[in-house]
Amino acid sequence: MFALWIGVTVVLLGAAVWYLLLATEGVYLGKRVVIALYDLYARRYDRLKQFDQEWELQTLAVPLAKALSAVPKPLILDVATGTGRLPNLLECVPHFKGQVIGLDYSWQMLRVAAEKLGASRRVTLIHQDATCLPFADESFDAVVCLEALEFLPDQAAALAEIVRVARPGAPILLTNRRGFYARLLRGRVQPSQEFAIALIETYGLEQVEIEEWQLEYDLIWATKGGTPGAEARPSDWRAILCCPRCGEVGFQVEAAQGLCCVHCGKALAFRQGILSYAAAQNER
Ligand SMILES: C[S@@+](CC[C@H](N)C(=O)[O-])C[C@H]1O[C@@H](n2cnc3c(N)ncnc32)[C@H](O)[C@@H]1O
Repeated sequence: MFALWIGVTVVLLGAAVWYLLLATEGVYLGKRVVIALYDLYARRYDRLKQFDQEWELQTLAVPLAKALSAVPKPLILDVATGTGRLPNLLECVPHFKGQVIGLDYSWQMLRVAAEKLGASRRVTLIHQDATCLPFADESFDAVVCLEALEFLPDQAAALAEIVRVARPGAPILLTNRRGFYARLLRGRVQPSQEFAIALIETYGLEQVEIEEWQLEYDLIWATKGGTPGAEARPSDWRAILCCPRCGEVGFQVEAAQGLCCVHCGKALAFRQGILSYAAAQNER
C-alpha cells in the first residue's frame, strides 16, 4: 500500500512538473520562472526549434520587407526577439536597408542573438520587459512579436504597448498559438478568429488577416489605423529611446560602450553587445 502511495505521488509530481515547466513553459509560475527557463534553454533553443531558414524567409522576412518597401529606411521593433530569429532573417533579405531593434527579457537568449548577429550595424539588442517598451509613441514603421505573447505576464499590456509604439499605418505581425499546447495554456490563448476580433475592437487594428503558418501557430498580419503624420521619424533609433530616469526621449552616443540621455545625462551601457536597459531602470 505504501509503495502504491509513493508511486502515485511520484506520477502526480512528474505530471505537475511536466505541465508547469515544460508544456506551459512556466507561465503560471510567474515572469521570473519564464525568463529563468529561457535563460536555461537559450543555447539549445535554435536546435530545438529547427527553423527552416528558407521557408521563414519566404513567410516572414520577405513579406515584411515588401510591406515596408515604400519606407526608405524602415525601423522595425521585434518584441521578445529571443535568439534574434527575425533580425537574422531580415539581414538575409536583399535590398533591405532598415534597422531592427530586438528586445527581450532573457539575457541569455539575447547573448545567443548577439553572437549570431556579430557586428551587425543594423540590429540593436535591448534587455527589457515587453510589457513596458522604452520608446516614444508612434516610433516604429513595423512591430513584430513572434511566438511570445502567450508567455508574457500581461498580454493586454504588451499588446497595448506594441500598438502604442507603432506608427499609424504600420504593419503589425503577431502569432497566435493553436493546436494541442494552446489548449493547455488556459486563459492565455484564444482561437485566432476571437484574437483577430479583439485586435480590431480593443486595440483598433485594421486589415487583420489570419494565415495558417505552422502546426502550432497562426500568423496574424494587421495594420495600425490612421495615416502617418507629416513630420519625419528621427533617422536614429536613439532619438526615440525613453530615459529610465527622467522619462524624456532622446539619447546620444557617449562612448564606444554607452549612451547618454540628452536631458538628464543618465548613462546606459552595452554589455556583451546588448543594451542593458532593465538594470538601468531598476537603478533609476
Ligand atoms: C518562444 S520564444 C520566441 C522568440 C522569438 N520571437 C522567436 O520567434 O524565435 C519566447 C521569447 O519571449 C521572451 N519573453 C518572455 N517573457 C518576456 C517578457 N516579459 N519580456 C520580454 N521578453 C519575454 C523569452 O525570453 C523568449 O525569448
